Amino acid sequence: MNAPANLLNLDEFERAALAVLPQAVYDYYAGGAEDEVTLRENRAAFARYALRPRVLVDVSRIDSTVELLGKRIAGPLLIAPTAFQKLAHPEGELAAARAAAHRNTPYIASTVSTTPIEAIAAAAPGSNIWLQLYVFRDREITRELVQRAEQSGCRALCLTVTVPVQGKRERDARNQFSLPDGIEMANFSGLRQAQLPEGKGSRLEAFIQREFDDSLTWSAVEWLASISSLPILLKGICHPQDAELAIDHGAAGVIVSNHGGRQLDSAIATLDALPAVADAVDGRIPVLLDGGIRRGSDVLKALALGATATLIGRPVLWGLAVGGQAGVDAVLSLVLDEVARVSALCGLRSPTSASPDLLSRI
Ligand code: FNR
Ligand code: LAC
Repeated sequence: MNAPANLLNLDEFERAALAVLPQAVYDYYAGGAEDEVTLRENRAAFARYALRPRVLVDVSRIDSTVELLGKRIAGPLLIAPTAFQKLAHPEGELAAARAAAHRNTPYIASTVSTTPIEAIAAAAPGSNIWLQLYVFRDREITRELVQRAEQSGCRALCLTVTVPVQGKRERDARNQFSLPDGIEMANFSGLRQAQLPEGKGSRLEAFIQREFDDSLTWSAVEWLASISSLPILLKGICHPQDAELAIDHGAAGVIVSNHGGRQLDSAIATLDALPAVADAVDGRIPVLLDGGIRRGSDVLKALALGATATLIGRPVLWGLAVGGQAGVDAVLSLVLDEVARVSALCGLRSPTSASPDLLSRI
């Protein structure tokens, strides 16, 4: 498939993906927990802010680049970890990681990817791959994966703290979500324990319940630091006191995230959680944000409220579904282009100079 040149925005990518994906896959990707209030709120929160532009600024040269963990990246944008990318396209994670490298955008590989971390890390020269971690009850499984990530040249670990148990995802329960033959959790190939179990209901939920450590506490961050020298970011911080604790426990960054509305329904929208977290962090470590970013203007709003950069999850899956690597490339280029354009229209030579006075609460 070629780059989908007719798709002008991320919502159009989603509609095009809906047309090509099996319903149960679309539901798994698109869905949230329970009434999907948080899923909708993540986006609604952006609409509650208007932009207050400055004018007559020379914007003939926009610099959207951002420095993150010692690397200059194309813009305030990363690819959020999402599971099972081969459900969207046969080349799955490899296609997405190649597009990310081409656009100088970090790609965060999921623990439950359908391609092994070694292959993702080797997908493209100059890539900036991070590994997202779920900690298994059997710590050896996690320890080994962390070592493999480090050996493969991954640049950071991203510990997801939003999944002590799985959110109640009713679409997946109804569809009895599972993986088709030939697609597996490739980091654990051959490890029967770490594959989706047979049975009824969502197979992912059963797997998470059986394998993920629901007794995880802050000491896990120190444990990770003791087995790896990579920077550790915590993904899923919404409370300023947790942001403080993250710093106390040595985190190199926090990601304000409610897991795309897939875990705790009625959780605060990430944009609404951001100011207090940014305040608590007070510039000591980068604060990233994901959830509902669909426009360049959303990125600017997050930066104005204290984020260093933002992540997109589902739009990458839509890009993969409609065009593989070219589709993801188109998604990234679309968002980066919108960021530069909105910056120019706001009178900002760099999106990183966005500050709260850019915003007016509606
Ligand atoms: C996710 N997310 C996620 N997060 C994580 O830490 N590990 C994972 O394996 C997954 N898997 C996953 C699968 C799917 C289908 C989705 C949609 C999401 C959460 C993801 O990283 C991110 O927090 C949200 O997707 C961000 O919201 P948007 O951009 O999708 O609105
Ligand atoms: C999800 C898990 C795998 O959101 O993180 O589906």
